[in-house]
Amino acid sequence: MFNNFIQYLFKSMNENNIEILNIQKLNISTFNNKILNNVSLKIHKGEMIGLVGESGSGKSVTALSILALLDEKAMKIDTGKIFLSNENILEKNEKEMQEIRGNKISMIFQEPMTSLNPVFTIGDQINEVHSIHNNLNRDKANELTISLLDKVGIPNPEISIKKYPHQLSGGQRQRVMIAMALSCRPKLLIADEPTTALDVIVQAQILKIINDLRKELEMSVLLITHDLGVVQDYCDRVYVMYKGRILENSKTKDLFSKPKHSYTKDLLNTRPAVNPPGKELPIIKEDYSFDDE
Ligand SMILES: Nc1ncnc2c1ncn2[C@@H]1O[C@H](COP(=O)(O)OP(=O)(O)O)[C@@H](O)[C@H]1O
Ligand SMILES: [Mg+2]
Repeated sequence: MFNNFIQYLFKSMNENNIEILNIQKLNISTFNNKILNNVSLKIHKGEMIGLVGESGSGKSVTALSILALLDEKAMKIDTGKIFLSNENILEKNEKEMQEIRGNKISMIFQEPMTSLNPVFTIGDQINEVHSIHNNLNRDKANELTISLLDKVGIPNPEISIKKYPHQLSGGQRQRVMIAMALSCRPKLLIADEPTTALDVIVQAQILKIINDLRKELEMSVLLITHDLGVVQDYCDRVYVMYKGRILENSKTKDLFSKPKHSYTKDLLNTRPAVNPPGKELPIIKEDYSFDDE
């Protein structure tokens, strides 16, 4: 009995320590600008990690580099490694990356309308993902699509499967994108500002779905957001990014109770919750030093 308990404890400790993603000292530049500067970031199995920082700080570039979807004409990776489990994905060719995208890593973006094809029904679009990744016949693919749409909270999935993207609301389209992203049961879901375009109530529903599915599928999530309230509610750890660098990496509760960097402190002080209407908003400085601990 006691031995079983110890074994269980070790097993769960080890499982939580499995590294799904390990970015090591990633440097990316355009021909005249440094975009990422020694960015390191780790995600363990089942963790939801927040990546926060002002617009232009390098969050999306970090995400796109994980999928090898950088705009190669505009920027290049100078140095660094990106390990997915034990493999450095920067050494993969395009064919190998296609296997990884959608099989091991999926991504959802801010504006689902641009990622959905307007001339095909959502059923056909999700089925297509199955037929590529799961090798299913049409009936089986349909069955799986309906169950996925149900899971992400699309009403009457048997009917909705025949709808076109423009017949759905913004929130429903984002749910469809999540269903599509999850159809191959990825180890890692990257969500780049997935709810920024949605109203507050829909935003909360979508984040709850992502969080529930993370637990059910034992998936890891990299959640890119500028909303610290979202981070506080859902993320285990947070990376704060500023001008292409990671300024700090903390457990979520530590970030809020004892932020290390003055930039993080200022960021926390600009939250609406600590600034009742009428109170003057604190000012975010133009420049923060990088080794200020
Ligand atoms: N295709 C591109 N060509 C040139 N510069 C780019 C391109 N994409 C992003 N950048 C630059 O890289 C930096 C980081 O951008 P990004 O990762 O999109 O920021 P964030 O997602 O944090 O708002 C910005 O300075 C941006 O102007
Ligand atoms: Mg972005």
